[in-house]
Formats: sequence, structure tokens, C-alpha cells
Amino acid sequence: MDVKGANKVYRSGTDLVPALSGVSFSVEAGEFVSLLGPSGCGKSTLLWAIAGLKPLDSGTVWLGTKAVTAPQPEMSIIFQEPTLLPWRSVGDNIALPLELRPAARDGARERIARLIRRVGLEGFESRYPKELSGGMQQRASIVRALAADPSVLLLDEPFSALDPFTREDMNLLLQDLWLETRKTMVLVTHSIEEAILLSDRIIVMTPRPGRIRLEREVDLPRPRTLDLLSSPEFFSIAADVRRAIVH
Ligand SMILES: Nc1ncnc2c1ncn2[C@@H]1O[C@H](COP(=O)(O)OP(=O)(O)OP(=O)(O)O)[C@@H](O)[C@H]1O
Ligand SMILES: [Mg+2]
Repeated sequence: MDVKGANKVYRSGTDLVPALSGVSFSVEAGEFVSLLGPSGCGKSTLLWAIAGLKPLDSGTVWLGTKAVTAPQPEMSIIFQEPTLLPWRSVGDNIALPLELRPAARDGARERIARLIRRVGLEGFESRYPKELSGGMQQRASIVRALAADPSVLLLDEPFSALDPFTREDMNLLLQDLWLETRKTMVLVTHSIEEAILLSDRIIVMTPRPGRIRLEREVDLPRPRTLDLLSSPEFFSIAADVRRAIVH
């Protein structure tokens, strides 16, 4: 995936709010990249543009040789708040992408059953979202996002509403899913720890309008554990990232 020269200005009444300015970067197939930056710097705008949900003023998102101008079947996105439909059971929520995209039904039953087991939601398929905790709802959202077997998973602060312990569990779960599926993942987060635990590369953006300030490789072996968070390697990367954010 290539983002080339992304620019976006919002018009709010008579005000112009520049959100993105000349943002360019590439993500390799199977790579895990995190986007970090101060609140309001344009991270969601960028992720929504990558997903084909929000047009850019100029610049292009390329998925292979295809310019993205609308949502693509190869990409799915997970939002900060679980967006399960309250009137559908967990199982029916998870199956929704297959109703929208019948071509993805091949092998879907086994794939979904495996994912449900993997995230620990077995036995909860007939429950309704309000009967689940926030962490369980977000796990269901992850299974739904992977149900149609996309090649790219976009995540916009998916764990920020969760308590710190649940969040760490979810980080390790996401790492496992990435190791098992090797999907391309782009994660927007405010957490330096989360970014270092999960990423091959961290991209730090400037305050609004968002530009790229730093690209930092995270060359640490996987699977990464929470012990990593107290290692010298972790502190060295965290210091680089923090310096770029407060710069
Ligand atoms: N629809 C809109 N109309 C006007 N301004 C908007 C709109 N959406 C976003 N903005 C502004 O554009 C800037 C970037 O917004 P965006 O949501 O992309 O930031 P963000 O980096 O995701 O922030 P956060 O970390 O708080 O989620 C912000 O200043 C925001 O106020
Ligand atoms: Mg945002």
C-alpha cells in the first residue's frame, strides 16, 4: 500500500482546518505499521482515507496498482468504539461482511469458527452485544473484521476504551493474530507501548496539519512479551518516539 502526497483541509463554516499535508509512506504486504501523533493531527482522517471512506483533497492511496476511491473488499477497518449492531447476535454480527460480500463465503465457516475460538468467544455466538463486556465486544469486532479474509486490517485506536489489563491482553491477541495470518496491519494509537509491542515500524506525525516527522523501525524479535516493556531496547525506541512527539 502506498500513500502519496495526501492533503486534506476541512471546511468548518468559514474556518479552514488543515488536517493532512503532504503525507507519503508505504506499507509492505504483511507489515505491521503504527501511526502515532498528538490528538487532532489527522490520524483518523488518514486511516479513513486509506479505507476509502473519506476523500482526500489531493494525493492518492494505492493498493497495489489500484487507486483507492471507495471502500475495498481487501480492506477492513476497526474503530475505537465497538460498532456491533445491537439488534443482531454476536454470530450474526460477525457474519455481516459475508452477507455484503458473498464471494468471501468460501471457507468462511471454518475461518470464523477458528477465529471465535482463538479470541475466546466460543459459546457467545447467540448472545447480544449488550450482554458482552467492552473487551469481548472489541474481540467480536476483530473477528467480524477478519471474517471476509481481507488482506489489510486498519485499526483506529481499537483498544483505547478498555482498561489497561484488558488492553494488554488485546495487544497480545492482536500480535498472535498477526503472526498467524500475516495480514498487513495499520494501527492508529496513542500508546507508545502498544506501538512498540506490535509494530515493524512506527510512523510519528506532527501536530495539525499532520506531516510525517519520524519513521522508526522496531527490530525486535517476535513473539514479543510484556517483559519487553522493561528492556533497554524498549526504552531506547520509546525515547526516540517520545522525542518526536513532543518535538
Ligand atoms: N468533519 C470534520 N469537519 C471539520 N474538521 C474536522 C472534521 N473531522 C476532523 N476535523 C479536524 O481535523 C483534524 C484532524 O482530525 P482527526 O480526527 O483526523 O485527528 P486524529 O489525529 O485522529 O485525533 P485523535 O487522536 O483525537 O483521534 C482535527 O483538528 C479535527 O478537529
Ligand atoms: Mg482519531
